[in-house]
Amino acid sequence: MRISSHVAIALLRASTALAEPLSPFLQDLEPPVSRGVPCKPSVRPSYRISPKHPGGSFPVSPDRNRTCCVESHGGGKDDSEYILTAIKDCNNGGHVVFSANTQYMISTALDLTFLKNIDLDIQGQILFSNDTNYWQKNSFKHVFQNASTFFQLGGEDVNVYGGGTLDGNGQVWYDLHAKDIYTLRPILFGTINLHNGTISDLNLRHSPQWYNFIANSTNLIYTNISIAGKSTSKNKAGNTDGWDTYRSSNLVIQNSHIDNGDDCVSFKPNSSDIVVQNLVCTGSHGISVGSLGQYIGETDIVRNIHVHNISMSHASSGARIKVWPGTPSALSGDLQGGGGSGAVANITFDGMVLQDVDYAVDISQCYGQKNLTLCREFPANLTIEDVHVRNFRGLTSRKYDPVVGYLVCSSAKACKDIYVENMDVKSPSGKSLYTCGSIPGIEKQVNCTSMDKGLE
Ligand SMILES: *[C@@H]1O[C@H](CO)[C@@H](O)[C@H](O)[C@H]1NC(C)=O
Ligand SMILES: *[C@@H]1O[C@H](CO)[C@@H](O)[C@H](O)[C@H]1NC(C)=O
Ligand SMILES: *[C@@H]1O[C@H](CO)[C@@H](O)[C@H](O)[C@H]1NC(C)=O
Ligand SMILES: *[C@@H]1O[C@H](CO)[C@@H](O)[C@H](O)[C@H]1NC(C)=O
Ligand SMILES: *[C@@H]1O[C@H](CO)[C@@H](O)[C@H](O)[C@H]1NC(C)=O
Ligand SMILES: *[C@@H]1O[C@H](CO)[C@@H](O)[C@H](O)[C@H]1NC(C)=O
Ligand SMILES: *[C@@H]1O[C@H](CO)[C@@H](O)[C@H](O)[C@H]1NC(C)=O
Ligand SMILES: *[C@@H]1O[C@H](CO)[C@@H](O)[C@H](O)[C@H]1NC(C)=O
Ligand SMILES: *[C@@H]1O[C@H](CO)[C@@H](O)[C@H](O)[C@H]1NC(C)=O
Ligand SMILES: *[C@@H]1O[C@H](CO)[C@@H](O)[C@H](O)[C@H]1NC(C)=O
Ligand SMILES: *[C@@H]1O[C@H](CO)[C@@H](O)[C@H](O)[C@H]1NC(C)=O
Ligand SMILES: *[C@@H]1O[C@H](CO)[C@@H](O)[C@H](O)[C@H]1NC(C)=O
Repeated sequence: MRISSHVAIALLRASTALAEPLSPFLQDLEPPVSRGVPCKPSVRPSYRISPKHPGGSFPVSPDRNRTCCVESHGGGKDDSEYILTAIKDCNNGGHVVFSANTQYMISTALDLTFLKNIDLDIQGQILFSNDTNYWQKNSFKHVFQNASTFFQLGGEDVNVYGGGTLDGNGQVWYDLHAKDIYTLRPILFGTINLHNGTISDLNLRHSPQWYNFIANSTNLIYTNISIAGKSTSKNKAGNTDGWDTYRSSNLVIQNSHIDNGDDCVSFKPNSSDIVVQNLVCTGSHGISVGSLGQYIGETDIVRNIHVHNISMSHASSGARIKVWPGTPSALSGDLQGGGGSGAVANITFDGMVLQDVDYAVDISQCYGQKNLTLCREFPANLTIEDVHVRNFRGLTSRKYDPVVGYLVCSSAKACKDIYVENMDVKSPSGKSLYTCGSIPGIEKQVNCTSMDKGLE
């Protein structure tokens, strides 16, 4: 393997430092030099999972033994090659630094699924180019919900941090999507097949679509992530979920601020053993299980989810479970489905403060279908059980006043053991009614009304 000069310098220094046994060698190093541009590794933050824990293990990475500085061309030229070179040089034990006050432009899709024992220390700004034609052709395609990503990050024992920013240049995408709903908008941060890692202290801005997609991954902590990005035109920044988890388990998402235009966090098929805590969500569609049951012949399982201490404002929902009906239907041209099977089990939403939220909680097995009669005729093949919603307080919006929640299953057989407790949630009129349907025992827990103001 080619060893570039900056790596060699760092190696030399590392071996000197290693001769002094008590020295924490990384911090002792002079900053390594990359073509005359110095870079300064930051200290990897330490992460505490608190107060809830999903139960699995989260091994702490050993110290890294060398540093690689990423160069940048400046002036908007593609830096992908520099990034790839630095990452390859520092893979297997190193620390890659994207310098502060530096812009790194990415105009080429990067497959980073080979990572092993590496820290990516992003102090500067990573900006994805606005070439929508290129990205639609070259982004990484994942079959599920036509998801595509700018890059994909995977492997094992990877930490990403540094206080810097990843910017998806979303505005061109929001405007293009308004003209053509089939525009394939990339996801900003695609974590694919990553096992044992942490993503922290990052600012994610203007994602064209979802901000984070966690697929086929295990044992990951996301902490102190800031998500924001408004549209500056009349076209909204839609479908900009904060996180979507898929075929992944033992995850923590915590201590973060999310200002977005769709689900704050969404648990997609086969998500399990996940804790989401201490989030401030603004402008979202709430924390959602689903949508599930979208694809006929597939089995979707979401279980062991604990959502704790969430502040939810200016949102369409607080806690949400959305399941497609037992027969296909279409929400829109680019979003259709129904008929899939599976189970949602052991889900807890404990502690949510609401402000200007349309429904504090909504559970539906008729997602994507306006015709309720049809949903009852074809009940969902996906059961919902052992769900606990408790300790919510605050105010809903005027939208469904006096109704504050929607709890409707498609058949009494499809749902059981759903508990809604200790809710101190009022609508602006002061009333707190719930639309209830086919959930055994629910009328003993909340004040049900026959009024049905629907669900968007
Ligand atoms: C750095 O550590 C990795 C394992 O994490 C090891 O494979 C590699 O040989 C080490 N390199 C040096 C120069 O010590
Ligand atoms: C795309 O970015 C380039 C600079 O890299 C800029 O000159 C151009 O105006 C941008 N195009 C759009 C549609 O925003
Ligand atoms: C992907 O989008 C197309 C429309 O472009 C739609 O017909 C198809 O159902 C979508 N596929 C999935 C897997 O969602
Ligand atoms: C992840 O860490 C666990 C220890 O907690 C270890 O058993 C497992 O092999 C690691 N997996 C990978 C892919 O590194
Ligand atoms: C969170 O990350 C930001 C940088 O994105 C940093 O300035 C701040 O100190 C971090 N907060 C904590 C509590 O670590
Ligand atoms: C996840 O793993 C499955 C099974 O190994 C594979 O079919 C699928 O393509 C992977 N998905 C992604 C997003 O990598
Ligand atoms: C709840 O979350 C908020 C927002 O992250 C945080 O400031 C607060 O300390 C958390 N409260 C508890 C009791 O952990
Ligand atoms: C989910 O897991 C179940 C059980 O392991 C499996 O049968 C099913 O195919 C998985 N579904 C998806 C969408 O990965
Ligand atoms: C339910 O999920 C929680 C995590 O949210 C977990 O601690 C608990 O063991 C799970 N219960 C069962 C019966 O699996
Ligand atoms: C729904 O489940 C029933 C059995 O519970 C099965 O007979 C039927 O084929 C399933 N339908 C679909 C669309 O999977
Ligand atoms: C709703 O579905 C029922 C049952 O399939 C059907 O009879 C009715 O015509 C549908 N209503 C509308 C408005 O499409
Ligand atoms: C239902 O409404 C009655 C009358 O307003 C109130 O006393 C009671 O506490 C409410 N029940 C619940 C579970 O909120």
